[in-house]
Amino acid sequence: MSDPEDPQLEARLAEQETFEPPAEFVEQANVSDPGIYEAFADAWPACWERAADLLDWETDYDEVLVEDDEPFYEWFVGGELNASANCLDRHLDERGEDLAIQWEGELGDTRRFTYRELHREVNECAAALRELGVEEDDVVTMYMPMIPELPVAMLACARIGAPHSVVFAGFSAEALATRMNAADSEFLVTCDGYYRRGDALDHVSKANEGLAGVDHGTTTVVVDRLGDDLDHELGDDQVGYDDRLAEHAGADVAPVTRDAEDMLFLMYTSGTTGRPKGVKHTTGGYLSYVAWTSHAVLDVDPADTYWCAADIGWITGHSYIVYGPLALGTTSVMYEGTPDYPDKDRLWEIVDTYDVTQMYTAPTAIRAFMKWGEKYPAGHDLSSLRLLGTVGEPINPKAWKWYYRHIGEESCPVVDTWWQTETGGMMITTLPGIGTMKPGAAGPPLPGIGAQVVDADGEAVAAGEAGYLTVQRPWPGMLRTLYRNDERFIDEYWAEYSDPESDEWVYFPEDGAKIDGDGYVTVLGRVDDVVNVSGHRLGTMEIESAIVAVEGVAEAAAVGGAHDVKGEAVYAYVILEDGAEQSDDMEQRIIQGVEDAIGAIARPDTVIFTPELPKTRSGKIMRRLLEDIANDDDLGNTSTLRNPDVVEDIEAKVRGD
Ligand code: WT7
Repeated sequence: MSDPEDPQLEARLAEQETFEPPAEFVEQANVSDPGIYEAFADAWPACWERAADLLDWETDYDEVLVEDDEPFYEWFVGGELNASANCLDRHLDERGEDLAIQWEGELGDTRRFTYRELHREVNECAAALRELGVEEDDVVTMYMPMIPELPVAMLACARIGAPHSVVFAGFSAEALATRMNAADSEFLVTCDGYYRRGDALDHVSKANEGLAGVDHGTTTVVVDRLGDDLDHELGDDQVGYDDRLAEHAGADVAPVTRDAEDMLFLMYTSGTTGRPKGVKHTTGGYLSYVAWTSHAVLDVDPADTYWCAADIGWITGHSYIVYGPLALGTTSVMYEGTPDYPDKDRLWEIVDTYDVTQMYTAPTAIRAFMKWGEKYPAGHDLSSLRLLGTVGEPINPKAWKWYYRHIGEESCPVVDTWWQTETGGMMITTLPGIGTMKPGAAGPPLPGIGAQVVDADGEAVAAGEAGYLTVQRPWPGMLRTLYRNDERFIDEYWAEYSDPESDEWVYFPEDGAKIDGDGYVTVLGRVDDVVNVSGHRLGTMEIESAIVAVEGVAEAAAVGGAHDVKGEAVYAYVILEDGAEQSDDMEQRIIQGVEDAIGAIARPDTVIFTPELPKTRSGKIMRRLLEDIANDDDLGNTSTLRNPDVVEDIEAKVRGD
């Protein structure tokens, strides 16, 4: 470990622009042969057999990729498998007594599941769900915080071939109802509550409120997390998780044989319109892809104690807390609570206690750690760590270097992984045993992945120039469609740059980026109306509809403005109806409106009342300008606006805040 007091070292790190993978890491890395890029390029798409080989197949696939009906690509066609069997059953002989999940509650209580124990509980849960009427292909919604029953229920669904749709516990009742209605989901698994900063938090009331907004009959399973700390009563269509499992104690449920292309799960995410998109992921392609990227990028081995500190309510948790690590038979750490409870060293205490070997977290968390100071990690033994990862938003070089130095103690490679809910798994990052790391740039596309930056016409831009990020070839973990909306799938992701006439289908992730001469991609952020608050993806349209629904509001525009910890914060520009009063009370009602419609994560940091919004002559709101105001950026020429005077007025208000 480096001497933390050495100012020269600090200066050297601040200046250093590139970092080589530590030799000690390379020696043991799962992937360390630089020839892998060429090997994948030469044998594409057969190269993806490497990913599929990490799984057990009941029936071998006939073809790796079928491109008959682009962009509806099919992967590992003809193959059959079950995801729960791949994450559990196949490990029992060799590592049944090894830990699958090491869980820690916020209050310090712990629960551990060996592969055998997890397999047992998943079987019982699968039997219980079946008895409640869940059949193959029924969508089961989950609305749960970070408790072990969440991955148990997910794997139980996978076992019986019922796709799950997990709704982040921080989302509102309304958001839950919207998602259950959109998927016609008749089943919900939720819990009474959870702990936050030591307090028992009621969750089931929010779930019930959501259920009241569901337009069809439902059956709900409620996990009792809080015991005596929160009383709850079960409604007519509700059953207790423990009771049901007890009734099926010892049950064996044979894993249902699923086609590789059968849906494994659905995940709703935000896009440009107010309606969330139901991203569909499949059994064979998705599972192969997350297993492969866990192996190649996170360097996961069965002997590891690997920790992804995300929430399972987002795709990161699906891919890299549940499916990837468990498919590879490792120990996955799960933590229920906040990183600063009871103190700001909570995460480092967990790394120290369990000898965590890999840690995967978000830049927003790293920026908070930085702010809290290095004394918190310094008080713990972090020498068990071998690799660090980040995901969710661009990481600034300063935060990258802080992570590398104070958490990785300069002996861990840092992988900055770019991907999305839609991509299923990582797409752009260095391979930790091979690539030079350049803080701020995610790295080259992974082997087998094609990425290009283009201009508005779809022409490739010169090296180093900013443009739109595009992905040229399909990959096994890709979304297959938007649930029940093939048309929107094409419109949102393919229409922009594809040329169906010449069979050139190009995926558009809606991110801006630049690619340097050495092939390294720097991701610049979303180019659509999506904001990224603390690594959480939110649609500005959804926020705007919530604000406009508040009584007295006539019009609203929500944009993201830079924030030193959250990455982006929500700025809401609001026009009130005649007669409505600009007041603290109105501001509170607006903030509450957003919290009710979406969740606390979407609350505007700043509400600006204005008599007008800057508009183009054709009447379009100039969001770019509102962003520039929020960011204190140069506004450039505003004379082409229909109402240029309003800009100064808004600017003065924001600065005055
Ligand atoms: C958006 C996807 C990937 C799981 C968590 C977020 C941004 C993600 C990076 C990164 C720069 C990143 C992009 C992307 N993003 N990772 N390493 N560097 N930006 O998944 O909610 O679907 O959001 O997050 O803008 O499009 P998501």
